[in-house]
Amino acid sequence: MKQVKSDQIHENGRHHSPHRVLKEAIPEHVAIIMDGNGRWAANRDKPRSYGHLEGSKNLLPVVDAVIRNGIKHLTLFAFSTENWGRPDNEVRNLIDILGEVLNTEILEIHNQGIRLQHIGHLNRLSKTFQQAIQDGIELTKDNDRLTLNIAFDYGGRDEIIHAIRNIISGDIPLSEVTEENFHEFLFTRNLPDPDLIIRTAGEMRLSNFLIWQSAYSEYYFSDTLWPDFSTKDIDNALLEYSRRKRRFGALPSLMKSHNPSNTFT
Ligand code: FPP
Repeated sequence: MKQVKSDQIHENGRHHSPHRVLKEAIPEHVAIIMDGNGRWAANRDKPRSYGHLEGSKNLLPVVDAVIRNGIKHLTLFAFSTENWGRPDNEVRNLIDILGEVLNTEILEIHNQGIRLQHIGHLNRLSKTFQQAIQDGIELTKDNDRLTLNIAFDYGGRDEIIHAIRNIISGDIPLSEVTEENFHEFLFTRNLPDPDLIIRTAGEMRLSNFLIWQSAYSEYYFSDTLWPDFSTKDIDNALLEYSRRKRRFGALPSLMKSHNPSNTFT
């Protein structure tokens, strides 16, 4: 008899392939903290830059898996406002890698119907880099198969301060600021909040990522280092998500349907 692994058994007891999570239980927005490149390289006695390069090779396969599963928005944490504190050569290396990915893959990204977006700041980056990102955003702006949202020079606290400054200098009276219209001032204004946040490499923290938007996100932590994080790991994360009961702080009997399948009913 074919052996079925425990991660292939759905909570209702039926055998369930990770590829067959019910469509209704697929998150709309997945965000990933891609951690562990440095450790992956150190395990092989290689420089950290080698880990980042190998990590970057994982981007398109993961994007493919996300599309195959019907996810509409993917946010990747590629460089935080705190990452400027790393040695200059590592910072330059991360910037160069994203620049190279954009140069070599932007047409493929476009052909796949992916819309590229950026959250964070561009003004601390070189003009060439800024132009490459802006060109990619412009080229792909009408695509709607997947929004690929790259968080680069992004920090959640910085984003909130940025939003507050814009509110104060804008037209909305402070007494009329609500949770809903505050969202309009965030970098993620055109995205739903992330349903699922994945972090690789065994750390269990948010590290200043989407701290406003993650109030009711589900979390999935994996020990796998980012360069080894495979499409199978994405499938497992989605299967685990499909088992979660989301209540958004409400009582089950009073739940409005935020998520048609895996809300508590
Ligand atoms: C964390 O690993 C990862 C990063 C700081 C950057 C993530 C970058 C990539 C996946 C490659 C490039 C992709 C883009 C889009 C630029 P770490 O260095 O903190 O690993 P460690 O915790 O093992 O030291």
